[in-house]
Amino acid sequence: MDTVFILNGPNLNLLGTREPEIYGHQSLADIEAICEVKAAQLNLEIDFRQTNHEGQLVDWLHEARERRTKAVLLNAAAYTHTSIALLDAIKAIELPVIEVHLSNPEEREEFRHLSYVGMAAAATVQGLGPQSYIVALEKAAEL
Ligand code: DQA
Repeated sequence: MDTVFILNGPNLNLLGTREPEIYGHQSLADIEAICEVKAAQLNLEIDFRQTNHEGQLVDWLHEARERRTKAVLLNAAAYTHTSIALLDAIKAIELPVIEVHLSNPEEREEFRHLSYVGMAAAATVQGLGPQSYIVALEKAAEL
């Protein structure tokens, strides 16, 4: 069965209590649970992870290549807007990386309009809340 890594960046461990007016009331564990259900329907295996550390995300992207995963869903959170290291890693691994966001950064503060992840991502799904992950999984299944 094909595996998809779902990688989550800083502060997403606080979902559910973090700025609920922006990110909603569902925890990251809730999002993982709906991803598990969707993945089973799509005949995919998922490996769902979260870290607050940029280099860990880089290491996990490299691991995705070594493990020949089908795709990576990446919500790099704030590193989306700052991390050339993530941009370089996405280019280096030569795997489809789908950028995911709960909110729509393009409709928020100007500093969120720049996405280094988006410069190399195969697709971007944003602004749909937890459903962003589901739509991104559907896209991954089609690859
Ligand atoms: C986010 C959007 C980012 O701008 C922000 O830094 C996050 C979460 C989202 O999922 O909406 O931490 O990636």
